Amino acid sequence: MFKDSPFLYIIITVKKNLGRIKMNEFFDCNGNRIELAFCRNSFHIQAKHVLVICQFENGWFLTRHKLRGLEFPGGKVEIGETVEEAARRETFEETGAILTDLQFIAEYKVNDTNGAFVKAVFWGKVDKVEPVNTYFETNGPAVVEGDILKIRFSDDYSFIMKDQVIEECITYIIEQQNKRR
Ligand code: GTP
Repeated sequence: MFKDSPFLYIIITVKKNLGRIKMNEFFDCNGNRIELAFCRNSFHIQAKHVLVICQFENGWFLTRHKLRGLEFPGGKVEIGETVEEAARRETFEETGAILTDLQFIAEYKVNDTNGAFVKAVFWGKVDKVEPVNTYFETNGPAVVEGDILKIRFSDDYSFIMKDQVIEECITYIIEQQNKRR
């Protein structure tokens, strides 16, 4: 009787779907363990941070963080905002860029000693760049052409760019672009 129960069917389905979430694990340069999944809501805590991998024409579109160096725009989700809204706002605040397409691609959990947090990663296409009075904690936008997976290891790039998260996410974006061609 229990074998035919709809509840058993639901439990099996949920277990099967959970089993499908492929989680990549690695350590960042601070020794923090990072877990990455190409899926929404993969963790027990909600994404309260965003990272936006932006493209502008033929280049990658970054911001010059005053302390960390070149990195993709991003930051914390504000109260009442969705992660998509935060991604667009942070990109605009840090670079003056307005995004057309914005696509969710992954989430990663940073297991920092002061507590874990989750970042949602987006892929954004820059439509236009407007001059703004302040870029907050950054010195504004920068467009980089060439192999970002190699260039990112130079000293003027932020430690966040050196994470394996960037390699995995950019590889995913390039695969998606090749499929669309
Ligand atoms: P701000 O408010 O932007 O100044 O952030 P914060 O550095 O004070 O705190 P945050 O919560 O952003 O980061 C907490 C810790 O996690 C710090 O040690 C950061 O350097 C680190 N961290 C933040 N974002 C990332 C990330 O994308 N990848 C990795 N590996 N570490 C990160």
